[in-house]
Amino acid sequence: MNNHTTISTNVTTDDGMQQGIAGIPAERKAALLSGRNFWETEPIEELGLPPVTLADGTYGLRHQSGSHDHLAMYDSDPATCFPPGVAIGSSWDPKVAARLGSAIGKEALAQGVHIVLGPGINIKRSPLCGRNFEYYSEDPCLTGALAVAFTRGLQKEGPGVSVKHFAANNQETNRQTISADVDERTLREIYLPAFERVVTEAQPATVMASYNKINGVFAAANPWLLTGLLRDEWGFEGVVVSDWNAVTDRVESLRAGLDLEMPGGSAGHDDDVRAALRSGELQESELDASVARLAGLVKYIPTEPTDVNYAAHHEIARELAADCAVLLKNDAQTLPLGQGVRLAVLGEFAEKLRYQGGGSAHVNATQVDQPLDAIKLLAADRGVSLAYSRGFAIDGAEDTGLLDEARGAARDCDVAVIFAGLDERAESEGIDRENLDLPANQVELIRAVAAIAPRTVVVLSNGGVVSLEGWHDDVDAILEAFLLGQGGGHAIADILFGLANPSGHLAESIPLRLNDHPSSLNFPGERGHVRYGEGVMVGYRYFTTFDSPVRYPFGHGLSYTTFTSSAPQVVVSANEEVTVSLQVTNTGNIAGKHVVQVYVATEAGPVRRPARELRGFAKVYLEPGETTSVSIDLPRRALAYWDIQYSRWVVAPGEYRIQVCQDAATVLHDELISLTGDKIITELTMDTPLGEWFEHPQVGAQVYDALGFTGVDISPEHLAMMSSMTMTQFIHISGLPVEAEVLARVMRDSRPA
Ligand code: BGC
Repeated sequence: MNNHTTISTNVTTDDGMQQGIAGIPAERKAALLSGRNFWETEPIEELGLPPVTLADGTYGLRHQSGSHDHLAMYDSDPATCFPPGVAIGSSWDPKVAARLGSAIGKEALAQGVHIVLGPGINIKRSPLCGRNFEYYSEDPCLTGALAVAFTRGLQKEGPGVSVKHFAANNQETNRQTISADVDERTLREIYLPAFERVVTEAQPATVMASYNKINGVFAAANPWLLTGLLRDEWGFEGVVVSDWNAVTDRVESLRAGLDLEMPGGSAGHDDDVRAALRSGELQESELDASVARLAGLVKYIPTEPTDVNYAAHHEIARELAADCAVLLKNDAQTLPLGQGVRLAVLGEFAEKLRYQGGGSAHVNATQVDQPLDAIKLLAADRGVSLAYSRGFAIDGAEDTGLLDEARGAARDCDVAVIFAGLDERAESEGIDRENLDLPANQVELIRAVAAIAPRTVVVLSNGGVVSLEGWHDDVDAILEAFLLGQGGGHAIADILFGLANPSGHLAESIPLRLNDHPSSLNFPGERGHVRYGEGVMVGYRYFTTFDSPVRYPFGHGLSYTTFTSSAPQVVVSANEEVTVSLQVTNTGNIAGKHVVQVYVATEAGPVRRPARELRGFAKVYLEPGETTSVSIDLPRRALAYWDIQYSRWVVAPGEYRIQVCQDAATVLHDELISLTGDKIITELTMDTPLGEWFEHPQVGAQVYDALGFTGVDISPEHLAMMSSMTMTQFIHISGLPVEAEVLARVMRDSRPA
């Protein structure tokens, strides 16, 4: 950390602080636990501590030094709009996330922001979620690695982060009341691991409790979530802050572990706390830990203001953007564009790029690169002639004049580049989309142009995935640019002309049809509840397990060069951690970046496992002809499932395939390993089903004996029928004279040593 303070305070030691806090009147403590206004905490004058300033910032700062609101109705101070979460997820590059964090951290320092409200790391359960543009991926391993890098990168500059939205906040419909009804295995394996990694590996300053309920209990008032898991299990030491206006019962949320209610400014909830103190419902000591944690935020306040070079940050925004765009299709090497081509650029997004999303994440960009300007500059140097036509109305209105004009341009070109996508009103915080469709007038344009132009390239700008059906096969190349931030226009032009080599990969599956998606049956829920019925089979986990075709799988992304990877060496350590090592070679003629993706596939254990799960990855840069070694560690956890019966992670004994994949659907190398795993011994009771008695590793044989079955030929059907009965039920129905003493002995012997 740099420039950090011990502010002139009468508190120098923990003991001193404890005493200082003890001296603060209870009524005042109640006031400290909510903000003093929309964006600041109360100063703790008794300890000499100034207010802490918070501002949004998942991909750029939204610091409102003027009028305040959280709907982004008022402009915020200019800041760099870096690539949003959807793009950062597609970079598959923790270095990109770390640079983003660091750059936002520097701008926060310059703007006097101490806590940045980001990263947003909710899992993309449904492609319809209106805030998917802010989130990274449908996969927790990818999300977690990027979130750790962002958090470290930002906090290294001095300010703190607020990791959000904790937890299971995966939709916008009824976002302040919806109950995400989700089983614990699914929570532990899919929706919580990214939070767990950030907390355990990067100690974020704050965690933001989300609006929604989890299994009927508000996240912001959920003791299991905020205290049991976050603090007791994961060791979180920072402040839990509410999402803005997420607290319904302040006393309950305080008890559950929520330290700071935001925004502040109205006395209502403070008075509830005071009343609870007076009635004895709350003890003053219950407030002290929260006050102490809030006082601890002082370490994120710098001593001196710093400056930031916004022009240099614009360059960073461009560089990061070029690492995020995903080349989905590139038939006959249509891209990059060659010298001297006659180019038709079509679609208004070329001059008004959609580069970010709406809502609290919205950044007042310092400047915005437009693709058309950047293309014009590069075209001039390359003898490329250029015609431009708006092509369609962004608001969706049919306009045959525009369509005819575009057709005319397509007739006289070698390559048509169409800029299509969703406009900002189509996806935003607060609303979910209803379908994955591109507006009909854009699809009409793409099809019309593809029928005329010798080659057609589509550049897409959208925050959530869009359907490519109805036109995919008609075009030669597709660059999925998602939302690339204010440098996106320049980055897109660089990629089109080959000055940058695309290296993004999909962080979410692109389905053929919305109804193929595993979330479809249960999204966005009804009567206040959304059932996560697909369980752990989220995104590609479902598509690969059920062999359900997609348009493009998770992990897909093309390059202008080619790579090969050697068969991996897989080493299993004594405590059964796995290291995967391999060599990657750039076999093409230009430099590029390759993503090594390592998945684990197993059927071991008593629970249904997805066909394969991403457990590690690395992005490497290679000059043409260069080879490099890559080594990826898979900790035990990467092999485990969450066992609801034992409430713990279990590595099931059995066979595991370590798969190096091109994407979630394409296995390049497959190595089989066998693991001894964890020995989980079930303690038998009279209510345990007979099947478990028979299979018990210690006493299975004794059970056969006790029931008089040894040597008896029992048919598989009879065995199956017996297996589901408890011992009590079996004895009752069979009438067998099994001695109670014998069973008691077997049950005793079944206990874990
Ligand atoms: C959003 C948060 C945001 C907060 C403050 C809420 O509506 O859900 O992500 O940080 O507002 O703007």
